Amino acid sequence: MTKRLFFAVELDEATRAQITDIADRLKKGAHFTAAKLVWVPQENYHLTLWFLGDVSQSVADRLAAGLPTTVQDMEPFEVDCRHLGTFPEDDRKPPKVLWFGTHRVPEALHRLRQNCASLIVRNGIPLPEQNFSPHVTLARFKSTKDVRPFRSLMKNYQFAKAGKSKVTRVVLIESQTGGGQARYVPYATADFPEAVQ
Ligand code: 2AM
Repeated sequence: MTKRLFFAVELDEATRAQITDIADRLKKGAHFTAAKLVWVPQENYHLTLWFLGDVSQSVADRLAAGLPTTVQDMEPFEVDCRHLGTFPEDDRKPPKVLWFGTHRVPEALHRLRQNCASLIVRNGIPLPEQNFSPHVTLARFKSTKDVRPFRSLMKNYQFAKAGKSKVTRVVLIESQTGGGQARYVPYATADFPEAVQ
């Protein structure tokens, strides 16, 4: 038995609603272009810290048990969600992922990610080689035949702001794949000490 896991932070409802609004406009506009995208449902919006992939049940349980250690030195902080972009970021290359980003990476987000890295390594998992470019995936491109009209549409939202989202906990999420859209189910959560009432 394995679990497909990743560490993430969630966005508050207001921010997700703002991002959804932008995604909906892009979705409508995309109908008038040749671009074909598969859109991520808003309940799946999040910022990934580390994607682990498949781990054994015992490792999953150890990570879940250790999750509170990643928030011991954390206080609630904000991530400023803005900017629309694609991966790869080089416009000359066919886009694969449409995302909404963050303005700068707060020091606290780096620290939280580093704390998760320590937990990962302590549990004998090699740290994945992943650059950190916090983003919310809005859609994945299925066809990039003629993406120029879609790219022009994107320009309208290039500097869009979706608000500042308060981060008060970290989540270890199980990605349940198979049969269409992945389902993201929290496997363990840890509230920041100052966030507990
Ligand atoms: P994405 O949003 O950029 O696709 C669950 O799949 C989460 O883990 C998603 O946020 C996804 O990033 C990320 N993820 C999936 N596979 C990954 C990989 N091989 N490397 C880094 N992140 C990955």
